[in-house]
Amino acid sequence: MNALINISYIVASILFIFGLKMLSSADTARRGNMVSALGMLIAIVATLLNEGMSYHWIIIGLIVGGTIGATAAKMVKMTAMPEMVALFNGFGGIASLLVGWSEFHAHPQSPAFTMVAVSLAVLIGGITFSGSLIAYAKLAEKIDGKPLLFSGQQVVNGALVIMAVLLVIVFATSANAYPALVLLIILALALGVLAVIPIGGADMPVVIALLNSYSGLAACAAGFVILNNVLIVAGALVGASGLILTTIMCKAMNRSLANVLFSGFGSATSSSAAGGGYQGEAKPITADDAYYILEAARSVIFVPGYGMAVAQAQHVVKELGDLLENNGAEVKYAIHPVAGRMPGHMNVLLAEANVPYEQLVVPEDVNPVMSTVDVAIVIGANDVVNPAAREDENSPLWGMPIINVDHARTCIVCKRSLNPGFAGVDNPLFFKENTRMLFGDAKKSFQGLVSQFKES
Ligand code: TAP
Repeated sequence: MNALINISYIVASILFIFGLKMLSSADTARRGNMVSALGMLIAIVATLLNEGMSYHWIIIGLIVGGTIGATAAKMVKMTAMPEMVALFNGFGGIASLLVGWSEFHAHPQSPAFTMVAVSLAVLIGGITFSGSLIAYAKLAEKIDGKPLLFSGQQVVNGALVIMAVLLVIVFATSANAYPALVLLIILALALGVLAVIPIGGADMPVVIALLNSYSGLAACAAGFVILNNVLIVAGALVGASGLILTTIMCKAMNRSLANVLFSGFGSATSSSAAGGGYQGEAKPITADDAYYILEAARSVIFVPGYGMAVAQAQHVVKELGDLLENNGAEVKYAIHPVAGRMPGHMNVLLAEANVPYEQLVVPEDVNPVMSTVDVAIVIGANDVVNPAAREDENSPLWGMPIINVDHARTCIVCKRSLNPGFAGVDNPLFFKENTRMLFGDAKKSFQGLVSQFKES
């Protein structure tokens, strides 16, 4: 039976790796998800075949957890997905903490290797749990999203990390290790809170990707505790992929991970430079005027952002895209890697509206040819099209790669006001000579445009 279980674990691990690989491209992502899920099913069934399993608690857990998870996933709004992911990570962390704790409780006199694995599962799992709850609370605006800074904060956090390392050593080497374990749990929970409160709400998606990586590492440690090969592999994969995602997001914002974690971006002091004070006159247009510009266009690029998600405008955007194509225009959708509030946010929405993958382009492809594009339509995006990132060295966005919609022949910006986006940074795009502001809710504005096309 043991051989069968181990072969199943190898099969599951291979499916995880292939599934992850397939997730990296939009046209194979859906299948990748299924392949990984199949791997997980095989891993769970194989684990349940272990001798001496008592099934009643597992069944209760499955029913309670499954019901809560399925209901929450059904109810959650697309725009609240990052909050949901934060909670998932947190629960992953606390699960690893509890596995480590219960294993120690059952076998307090384990070898040093197991003791170190227990302490790492508890430490990383605890940090992940409390850090994720704070990230959730900031994103869901249950607490103030501004960075909470106090003097000596980094010294306190540094001291806590050193104490944690010392406690791991004490725990792994002492004869009566329970007090050290309890202290380690308290310290891990405190460290999670203290590490996340100085980070602003705008950076929470990066923090969540990082905590996702931590939840994987905690699971990996838990795998070493209970000597479960597939948990070790799956945890390592989550740990690595979370870290890769974190790096991609930092790169897309032109910031280092240290800057995200320690600079207090978005605090009163850091945002004082954000005003920009760009002067000029924004030129509003009506749906009628926008229709005439679009009707004459031969190439059109849609640039969606967080506002499209808020307005749930993706279906009507696709409808307009189809009408423009029927009218003879070449239509593309340019997606910035940090548009919206979570990785792949825009991809998911456009896929939901059945926009073909071939029409999706990335900034590196579209920027070099932007000057040949007749119309770039910005749909509720702001920071990711802010030319201050290119033009204003004093802007907090300076150096961030953006989509150069201002280089198109005409740029139509659809949003409700001249208010800044999530980074709180003013946008000179609104005052450019070739920019026209189509004020209003994105869905309503696009419905207006679609009606114009249909009536004509
Ligand atoms: P933002 O810069 O946040 O701008 C969104 C704009 O949407 C707002 O300015 C708002 O303007 C508009 N809006 C809101 N509701 C609307 C509606 N119903 N109809 C039309 N417009 C509406 O969004 P972005 O350009 O997508 O940039 C994303 C930001 O999040 C960046 O700062 C990025 O660094 C940050 N971030 C993202 C991620 C990921 S992974 N996506 C990770 C970390 C950080 P009005 O109020 O005037 O309508």
